[in-house]
Amino acid sequence: MKRFIDHEELARDSRFIRQDGAANSVLASLPDDVDTVVDIFEQLAPMIEKATRGTAAEPLYEEYGPAYNLVVLNEPIHPDDPALVNRLRFRLHGILIGELQALEGASRSLWDFPEAPWEFKMNMARQAWDEARHVQIYEKLLQYMGGEIGDYPENTFLFECACSEDPAMRVAGVNRGLEGLACDVFRDLIRYAEKVGDDTIKQAVDFVLADEITHVRFGSNWVKEFTKDDPDYFKRTQEFRREVDKRFSFGGARSAREDAAIPLAVQDRLEAGFTAEEIDEIGALSVGGPSRETLREAARILAERHRAKKAQQKQTAAE
Ligand SMILES: [Fe+2]
Ligand SMILES: [Fe+2]
Repeated sequence: MKRFIDHEELARDSRFIRQDGAANSVLASLPDDVDTVVDIFEQLAPMIEKATRGTAAEPLYEEYGPAYNLVVLNEPIHPDDPALVNRLRFRLHGILIGELQALEGASRSLWDFPEAPWEFKMNMARQAWDEARHVQIYEKLLQYMGGEIGDYPENTFLFECACSEDPAMRVAGVNRGLEGLACDVFRDLIRYAEKVGDDTIKQAVDFVLADEITHVRFGSNWVKEFTKDDPDYFKRTQEFRREVDKRFSFGGARSAREDAAIPLAVQDRLEAGFTAEEIDEIGALSVGGPSRETLREAARILAERHRAKKAQQKQTAAE
């Protein structure tokens, strides 16, 4: 079996619709400037539209235009949101895809590094087992909300960013970057479930989060172990994780900002072996990125132009 596969080689059945992850990557490098954000998303519009066609994300595109990603990613989920059910399904579907790629990341770590210690392989095997269960849990939660696998497009952004070919960087990217992001997202989902009194979501996600803390801990321990005699190697590995964390902050949607859509799960991260400095650093990574006001204003302009364009097309067709 091949080692170090490319994200494009990840196998899926016919239910899944693959999407280019470029829109996600772009969010990490956006400046705090409305016009630039609008320009970039207008350029990406054909690609974004194509990926939503025929999926449950199509009505979101219809309503918000190419900014639907900004709206979905950067606004917290409120119980009184008119698009609540669709947005919640979208998020659960995204998490299910993340669990699938975490399963692939962990099992690939087991296979890609044959020289690694036995204990490392046991940890990765344990993680793969957990992630397989998480995929099933999120499939059930998605169905509970009335959704199905394949309702929304999948991008392989998480696997792409996190799966380095170096063992210390692999666990830094997958177990600390990706799994750390999972802790933030799941803590946020638990808070949402508490707010609306949904015990099914609350309890299911709470069980999953307990595993994720263990997975991050594997990462915290193995980064130290793999780099223990080489401070320079440790430094490069931290640098790699910072880059991954910046991309996983989606332009400040996940950050320490007051207006963050997904706040950092500080307590969970401390429990999982992140130091207070590392957490502060992750919180500050996207400080230069666009603020919520900038993204809101850009989303408003993009939606307005999208509606104007549609109205014009309708008129031309009627003439
Ligand atoms: Fe998981
Ligand atoms: Fe995990």
